[in-house]
Amino acid sequence: MRLKIANRAFAAAAATAFLVTAAPVVAQEAAAPAAGQATTAKPNIVIIGTGGTIAGAGASTVNTGDYDSAKVAVDKIIAAVPEMKQVANIRGEQIFQIGSESYNDERMLKLAKRISELAKQPDVDAVMVTHGTDTIEETSYLLNLTLKTDKPVVIIGAMRPGTALSADGPLNLYNAAVVAASKEAKGKGVLVVMNDEIHSARDVTKSNALKVETFRSLYGPLGVVVESKPYFYRLPARPHTMATEFDIDQITALPKVDVFYAHTSMDPKILGAIADLGGKALIYGGTGNASVADYMEDPLKEVRKKGLIVVRATRTGSGQVVRNGEEKDDENDWIVAADQTPQKARLLTSLALTKTQDPKAIEAILYKY
Ligand code: DGL
Repeated sequence: MRLKIANRAFAAAAATAFLVTAAPVVAQEAAAPAAGQATTAKPNIVIIGTGGTIAGAGASTVNTGDYDSAKVAVDKIIAAVPEMKQVANIRGEQIFQIGSESYNDERMLKLAKRISELAKQPDVDAVMVTHGTDTIEETSYLLNLTLKTDKPVVIIGAMRPGTALSADGPLNLYNAAVVAASKEAKGKGVLVVMNDEIHSARDVTKSNALKVETFRSLYGPLGVVVESKPYFYRLPARPHTMATEFDIDQITALPKVDVFYAHTSMDPKILGAIADLGGKALIYGGTGNASVADYMEDPLKEVRKKGLIVVRATRTGSGQVVRNGEEKDDENDWIVAADQTPQKARLLTSLALTKTQDPKAIEAILYKY
């Protein structure tokens, strides 16, 4: 949620607020360097700042939903959590300062390519990304499918700005550093760490517009962070990072794929309009089991006839779409998105289109990942 605040000048002071909360710990940290060479044994982590609420600022400490996102520089966010220095050598890098609702393919690819570059450096052991929560599930999924590294890549955000009472950003950041610095995180694909939980980018989705407990994974989180330790309980079953056929270094653009969200009383002309926008595929986010309303069937058949791949996904947020159930997929040459949400199906279909134009092969990819 991105609402304007009356006192914009306060936004610039956000970093100070972050630092005020962290002040006692800074003092502890100052006493610590005696540990000497222990620093060399710590992993090196680069944190890429992209904006979002974790970099946000409200006009008062009681503003938890009314604030400006993407205001505080990543270095200041890092400085406010000096506890991270106990687990890793950290440096920050600012790539964007945006709300994550403003991601597009170009920005996602730019971020992914930068992570890929960093992951190839021998002096980088893990990469973290501070990100707005709105689209974490999409960016992290693209990274999970295209990065060719087994080094930990951990994405984090916050639901409350750093200026708020009980801000969640600092602990999310610390927990993410704990995970990124751990041996256990290696080879598990791109992880999203929020609210003490470790999620696989494949499954995670934002489920509430305001609550701190908003990220959920359809099949449960992979693990939790407790008292500075990651505990993994599950492994991602689907191929990711090194095991996929998609390589971010080979991708220069993503084929255009659009999503249509179904509801009662739709205007069938919208489908025709979308089909004329130059996209290669249309994700039909249908009701229930991706059902297509009787009056939308012919317009959807037309979309396929115009050459777009038609993918039926469910708008319910979970569950497998059944092929040739109520809908005549074979007859209409439509495909189904398996259990992929419309927004994740959009990314995966787009990646699939970089490999094949064959609907059956694209559907197999939707089932595979
Ligand atoms: N509009 C938002 C974003 O995704 C702020 C919400 C958040 O980060 O929680 O950047």
